[in-house]
Amino acid sequence: LRRIGVLTGGGDAPGLNAALRAVVKTAILRYGWTVIGFEDGYEGAILGRARQLGLDDVRGLLVRGGTILGASNRANPFFFAHPEQGDTEPRDHSRTLLATLERIGIDALIVIGGEGSLSIAHRLNEMGLRVIGIPKTIDNDVRGTLQTIGFDTAVTTATEAIDRLHTTAESHHRVMLVELMGRDAGWIALSAGVAGGADVILIPEIPFVLDRVVEVIRGRRQRRRSFTIVAVAEGARPLDGEAVFERTGPLPYQRKYGGISLVLQKQLSRILPTEVRAVVLGHLQRGGTPTPTDRALATALGSAAVDALADDDDGVMVAIRAHPAGQATWGIVRVPLAEVARGPRLVPLDHPLVRAARGIGI
Ligand code: F6P
Repeated sequence: LRRIGVLTGGGDAPGLNAALRAVVKTAILRYGWTVIGFEDGYEGAILGRARQLGLDDVRGLLVRGGTILGASNRANPFFFAHPEQGDTEPRDHSRTLLATLERIGIDALIVIGGEGSLSIAHRLNEMGLRVIGIPKTIDNDVRGTLQTIGFDTAVTTATEAIDRLHTTAESHHRVMLVELMGRDAGWIALSAGVAGGADVILIPEIPFVLDRVVEVIRGRRQRRRSFTIVAVAEGARPLDGEAVFERTGPLPYQRKYGGISLVLQKQLSRILPTEVRAVVLGHLQRGGTPTPTDRALATALGSAAVDALADDDDGVMVAIRAHPAGQATWGIVRVPLAEVARGPRLVPLDHPLVRAARGIGI
């Protein structure tokens, strides 16, 4: 009987717990295996912070946001400062991780993660560790899958926020900028922007021109639309490079996440007579109970990851793809982790939502 490990890497996303539940239940109920959960992503796998997960541990997890295992963006085994080994600088601890897994008696690891965690999983797989990946990130920017766990919930939250901003923007005749997550890719801003009826959508894949944004706002005023909603992905950047940022001067505050909407607020307030407000939605998009779509997706992928191990598959990510034929709207495929490690999946410029947005004047 096998003993498998599981960890949740990178930032949290709604549906992680649902995926854990599916992994544990399938491993135990279908195959009779033992499941060991590692705490705080790769950190627990390096340091040996682990606990057995039984059916009782996953009860009630389907609807719970976050991850019961804990998450850590900073735990990269190839660049890690080991607290017990006196490291003053981060260094390669991949062999420490492999040794820890061997000591605990893990014969395969399921990594539920985004592009970063799955790229690490790929490197560990190349070193001989048996690995299966499951794609999760609210950003939806993982190659090889149509959708990642957490994206649907984030879009739902972001859309609700845009709906709420509409009524206040309209009442005050304001320009309202809403900044959404999406460091590299604009999937959330595009989807929530279209679903929430934003008038302008700015995504990293299409550098924006400030004058064009001003034109749209002025055009709306001429048509007696006194307010404008702008959905901005955190990674959106102007076409004229840093010029817009330079002209703005220092931001009121600087932080890792958020900022572009504040720059735009400053710029637009200078140019337009209208009041401009910026709202950074931030980690609200990562919290809360997963939507039915994310619960179902997480359950399907979690269960399929265990099946992949049972088939002795290795070095792959379970993913969803549009079903080429037959009744189902989507099917599960196994994609080499090497493909996932090629970098984030950006919004293609010929995506139907980009075309539709342009078609309706966004
Ligand atoms: O990777 C998902 C993401 O939501 C990014 O869009 C964002 O830049 C990042 O997480 C912020 O993560 P944290 O504040 O947890 O480091």
